[in-house]
Amino acid sequence: MQPLTKTRLTPTEIAPETFLIHDHQGEGSAPVVVALNSLVIRAQEPVVVDTGMAENREQYLADVFGLVEPADVRWVFISHDDVDHTGNVNALMDACPNATLIVNWFMTERMGESLAVPPTRQRWIDDGGTLDVGDRTLVALRPPIFDSPTTRGLFDPTTGVYWASDTFATPMLAPARNVEEIDVDFWTAGMHMFHQYVSPWVTMVRDAEFQATVDRVAQLSPAVIAGCHTPAVHGGRVAKALATTRTTPTAVVPPQPDQAVLEQIQQSLTVAA
Ligand SMILES: [Fe+2]
Ligand SMILES: [Fe+2]
Repeated sequence: MQPLTKTRLTPTEIAPETFLIHDHQGEGSAPVVVALNSLVIRAQEPVVVDTGMAENREQYLADVFGLVEPADVRWVFISHDDVDHTGNVNALMDACPNATLIVNWFMTERMGESLAVPPTRQRWIDDGGTLDVGDRTLVALRPPIFDSPTTRGLFDPTTGVYWASDTFATPMLAPARNVEEIDVDFWTAGMHMFHQYVSPWVTMVRDAEFQATVDRVAQLSPAVIAGCHTPAVHGGRVAKALATTRTTPTAVVPPQPDQAVLEQIQQSLTVAA
């Protein structure tokens, strides 16, 4: 359920020629708001990273094409096959005749016929793979927290921006552009909670192996972290985001809403009707 008036955030330039495309859900209908972002990198060969929710198609395409002409989009990188990352992939590829879709084999298997982009317009890049976009080489690197086996993040060594897909997800009390707008204690607890919700297996893994996955991101020395479910993370908050990820496996987080909560929602809807 969306509010009657949804806060509109225009794209945010988070690094030179690198723009966060904003969307969110939960505003006015849930205790917290969740970001649903994607990214545009105006490299020599422009790149779109993830494609938002189908429900937001009109605004999403307007935001992307306000930054780059459809015919100039050369690459569309999908971080994984969830609906909040693939919602407009077919529409975007239809509108961008010169774009090649960056996915991987398992994504095409899992998406089946919902992915209408022919193999001739695809390139498959897995964790550790690279993509030459003319003036820079982007690196695909799986983030530590993920909810699909197909997940790869994307690092731009020119700007130091790392697209973390579902990692570093945080609840927000209101739509935000920069994670500095979120109280640091709320952010830390919220990230722990979302990390365990996204990757419940994180409490079951050997710590040394998990820490090594955080090390891989830390070794990039990212200047800015961007992700689907977080405002942009800059400056000192980058190290804090990594540190919070490291303590995720043993964090104590609230349980997810259950049937009792659903019944409260149903009751409030019945009363309101
Ligand atoms: Fe996901
Ligand atoms: Fe997601």
